[in-house]
Amino acid sequence: MKVMVAGASGMLGSEIMKLLGDSGVGFDLPDFDIADSVCVSSAVNKVKPDVILNTSALTDVDYCEKNPDAAESVHHTGVKNLVDTGIRVVTVSTDQVFTNGGTRYLLESDPTEPANIYAATKLRGEIVALNNPGNTVVRTSWLFGAKGLLPWIVTKLINQEVVTAVTDQTSCLTSVVSLAEILVDMAVDENKTGTGLFHCVSRGAITPYELACTVRDRIGAGVVRSTRWAQLSLPAPRPVWSALGTERSIVLPPLEEVLELCLQKLL
Ligand SMILES: NC(=O)c1ccc[n+]([C@@H]2O[C@H](COP(=O)([O-])OP(=O)(O)OC[C@H]3O[C@@H](n4cnc5c(N)ncnc54)[C@H](OP(=O)(O)O)[C@@H]3O)[C@@H](O)[C@H]2O)c1
Repeated sequence: MKVMVAGASGMLGSEIMKLLGDSGVGFDLPDFDIADSVCVSSAVNKVKPDVILNTSALTDVDYCEKNPDAAESVHHTGVKNLVDTGIRVVTVSTDQVFTNGGTRYLLESDPTEPANIYAATKLRGEIVALNNPGNTVVRTSWLFGAKGLLPWIVTKLINQEVVTAVTDQTSCLTSVVSLAEILVDMAVDENKTGTGLFHCVSRGAITPYELACTVRDRIGAGVVRSTRWAQLSLPAPRPVWSALGTERSIVLPPLEEVLELCLQKLL
């Protein structure tokens, strides 16, 4: 089984490459541009993969808001380029396809309402991929491993810096290691995992402010201040509530469990 990984140098892509070992062939900028169809087809012709796992993205939502064409070319045209090769595609998307789900865990069958340009272009990529029932789309949120929201909070608090975190965005955290394991399973054995749309996060809706307070209490040090997105005057609107639930059978470990494991590692 040969798996071509697009976005292989990123946080999630590099974790996937570690798991795949010799089965993984990684591609990323600057040598490989998913938005360039010639580049994609020549990589596929060279590697002849059984499946393509796509983790490439422009994850800076404010950059996407100011550069909608760039977001469209990576998140929509890029996925279309992969799908057009005729190879099965597993691609990663975002909770931000929802804007305000109230206080309910949002399911795969719930109607979408993208919060910003980043999410709108990711949603167009989802639709292209899901036009073929053999493909898989995985929505996830707030990834953390060595980098991400959680290590950022922990590092700042340990260094006695003030953490200022928003109270008006609720979502879920996802361990990049757990997600990478699931994505590899989905890529190599779709008969076991199924195909189509999946929500993969650690269940436990939380705001960055609540998360920072939890970490502060665990560490017993540091100062956490609250803010709201409107006070930060950033270009991209953020979802108010985009905590994901699932009606599929793949479930990640809950927030408390991954939080404890991660804190043990980081502290
Ligand atoms: N991080 C999160 O909290 C989060 C939350 C929800 C969903 N997701 C989704 O999860 C996936 C993985 O995210 P991540 O955090 O691992 O992102 P990441 O660390 O930023 O990795 C993305 C990779 O894609 C590369 N890339 C960008 N444009 C490309 C292009 N035109 N052609 C080929 N590669 C390109 C990036 O290269 P450069 O670094 O050179 O730009 C980077 O290496 C993405 O689909 C993202 O939308 C992430």
